[in-house]
Amino acid sequence: MGKKLLLEHENVPGIDTYEVYRSKGGYCAAEKALRKMSPDQIVEEVKVSGLRGRGGAGFPTGMKWSFLAKPEGKPRYLVVNADESEPGTFKDRYLMEKIPHILVEGILISSFALGANTSYIYIRGEYKWLVDVMEKAIAEAKNAGWLGKNILGTGYHLEIYVHYGAGAYICGEETALLESLEGKRGNPRIKPPFPAVAGLYGCPTVVNNVESIAAVVPIINMGGAEYAKIGIGKSTGTKLISACGHINKPGVYEIEMNISVEEFINSDEYCGGIRKGHRLKALVPGGSSVPILPYELIYKTAKGETRMMTYESLADGGFATGSMLGSGGFIVYDETACIVRNTWSFARFYHHESCGQCSPCREGTGWMEKVLHRIEHGHGRMHDIDLLVDVAKKIEGNTICPLGDAAAWPVASAIRHFREEFEYHVKYPEKVKNSIYAHEKDYKAVMV
Ligand SMILES: Cc1cc2nc3c(=O)[nH]c(=O)nc-3n(C[C@H](O)[C@H](O)[C@H](O)COP(=O)(O)O)c2cc1C
Repeated sequence: MGKKLLLEHENVPGIDTYEVYRSKGGYCAAEKALRKMSPDQIVEEVKVSGLRGRGGAGFPTGMKWSFLAKPEGKPRYLVVNADESEPGTFKDRYLMEKIPHILVEGILISSFALGANTSYIYIRGEYKWLVDVMEKAIAEAKNAGWLGKNILGTGYHLEIYVHYGAGAYICGEETALLESLEGKRGNPRIKPPFPAVAGLYGCPTVVNNVESIAAVVPIINMGGAEYAKIGIGKSTGTKLISACGHINKPGVYEIEMNISVEEFINSDEYCGGIRKGHRLKALVPGGSSVPILPYELIYKTAKGETRMMTYESLADGGFATGSMLGSGGFIVYDETACIVRNTWSFARFYHHESCGQCSPCREGTGWMEKVLHRIEHGHGRMHDIDLLVDVAKKIEGNTICPLGDAAAWPVASAIRHFREEFEYHVKYPEKVKNSIYAHEKDYKAVMV
């Protein structure tokens, strides 16, 4: 059994309440941090732990914290990103719903370390019920003296506010999130300045994912060095993975970052294997925006090494033969999945969610959706396939925020690895028209 640091008590009845959380050692890390450690020591401990942001980009959390501009009379803010809109990702929801106090405790320690007296949790609109869950936990913590004025007699004070969005994926991008929190339209900002210098209301701000902030609790409890012993290389600690698709046991799993993709998919502790009678065809390991991997690159990298559930191994091979751990939204496809239909579905999402600020993304996502729609619905032309690659290339790297890349990568990688399937759709429109399935057997037979 893998070690669990965040979900250890996930099945304890009442763990969402303050009393039960406290009885299981909750708030001991906060007590240690506030009574025995200085803010700089906490930042150092997080650096030593090697914790990398769990929201998608994997940026080292301790390093991000140390970029925060020095206090110069302005308030400093910690903003927790609970927008979680990436298709395939539902781990933050699970954590907040099950163990909301681990997030409150993590915010307390992190805010103390950053010198912030106000912290916000920005929750996506569709998770509205979690606003109540988090507000209840915040009220309980306040009642018990962990929030408010003069916490533990240290003179430190902290308030946490919950804010919910209106259901826009773009508001997960940290600067769009800050705009939205300020009451404006959620358009990403041009950087620099980065939020660490001019973030919320123009003040130094750290934006971190829910899981990153929750991970600060075990890091303080066990020490950064111990935390860093778990995992491989620069992938330290544990990671929450939300697994879905054609597997026997979809769900949220906490893994030590030292297991192979094969073990994660097939072990009964995790996904429990591909559903009976079917075989693995493709994998999107880190949420809809990361490149899709074909069967031959899932268990092994192009170099023939075992593919591990780590940032480095999943990215091995770059965009040609690798993917990304991303947000841990692990989507598994068996041979009944139509890659063209799936790519069209993702493209629809990104077109709908593009904020429209940058022309390549606004126009390009629309074109990709249209072209994919016609290929999937039997009106495609052979040159449409290269047209898609061309449009994806023109979006990538040419936008203010990475939503453009997120829209381009699934399309480019699907064509790179499954071109035959796109060609089949163009050649045999009557066979694929309005079909959920790729008729893989047919197209394999036709192509040979
Ligand atoms: C379009 C878009 C959507 C994003 N959505 C989320 C999200 O829902 N949750 C999240 O934590 N990060 C999201 N991110 C990443 C954030 O911009 C930011 O990198 C992250 O909150 C930093 O936290 P971390 O360092 O703890 O991962 C998104 C980025 C982009 C470009």
